[in-house]
Amino acid sequence: MTLDPQFQLFLAASRERVQAHLDEWLPPESIPPQRLHQAMRYAALGNGKRVRPVLVYAAGQVAGAPQERLGVPACSVELIHAYSLVHDDLPAMDDDDLRRGRPTCHKAYDEATAILAGDALQTLAFRLLAHLPQLDIPAEQRLHMIDELALASGCRGMAGGQALDIDAVGRELSIAELENMHIHKTGALIRASVRLGALCADSIPDDTLRRLDRYAKCIGLAFQIRDDILDVEGETADLGKTRGKDEAANKPTYPALLGLDGAREMAGRLLEEALDNLSAFDGEAAPLRSLALYIVGRTR
Ligand code: IPE
Ligand code: IPE
Ligand code: MG
Ligand code: MG
Ligand code: MG
Repeated sequence: MTLDPQFQLFLAASRERVQAHLDEWLPPESIPPQRLHQAMRYAALGNGKRVRPVLVYAAGQVAGAPQERLGVPACSVELIHAYSLVHDDLPAMDDDDLRRGRPTCHKAYDEATAILAGDALQTLAFRLLAHLPQLDIPAEQRLHMIDELALASGCRGMAGGQALDIDAVGRELSIAELENMHIHKTGALIRASVRLGALCADSIPDDTLRRLDRYAKCIGLAFQIRDDILDVEGETADLGKTRGKDEAANKPTYPALLGLDGAREMAGRLLEEALDNLSAFDGEAAPLRSLALYIVGRTR
């Protein structure tokens, strides 16, 4: 897919900022426990698309949040995401060997280290929000952001969705059940990314937050539908993870339930709905619009 040149610049600049912040805020490999720190950095600094942090920056722009504040929530959501991938790849879960074009964390290190690296990445995410002066917002607003991220990550969000995923292996789910699983395992953190970016503004009108939230719900679900599609028709070399794992593991997915065309149509409908929710905004929402297109059109 061809990306709008302005958006390419936005994407590159956001990714660069996140990479620099993560590098600074992750513990150095030189101090003990070194193996744990190495594994954390291996998992978090690898070649991810950084969709969630870019969403933080793009939503923050719509809400009028100062850009300097956005680095902390951008890294927090990426750290939660990195932790979720490390645990998702473990033998007890999806048992994957390849992630972001390299051996998975438990293959590069060992299972115990990968479990601990995931744990520590998760707690670091919350520490950044609680602790770093760069966030520069009142304590009450920080607390609100910590609460949002905790809710999106835990049993009522990503971890809960992962539990539904594990429980669903080999079973035929209804569309409603599949949607519920996807909304939780992937949608919740994407939604939190948009909300955290918006909550960095000094104040945000209720209807702005509501529109952004509805946009985020649509692209969160569309993101996982696209992930399911790419597991069928993507290339391992592009994806940086092994294609065909869902079918091999008997996972319920959108292509399995609706067929590839049905899954693509569904993602297209969600894209339209996402864009509709941005119609009240002007040029400030251009990156969010481009991100929605990117999410449903991506090949990795
Ligand atoms: C993969 O997420 C896991 C899902 C939630 C579908 P991404 O596709 O964002 O993975 P990275 O961060 O680019 O590696
Ligand atoms: C993972 O979904 C969602 C997470 C919360 C990590 P998948 O299991 O489909 O993600 P991939 O395909 O391994 O990246
Ligand atoms: Mg999984
Ligand atoms: Mg997986
Ligand atoms: Mg997948």
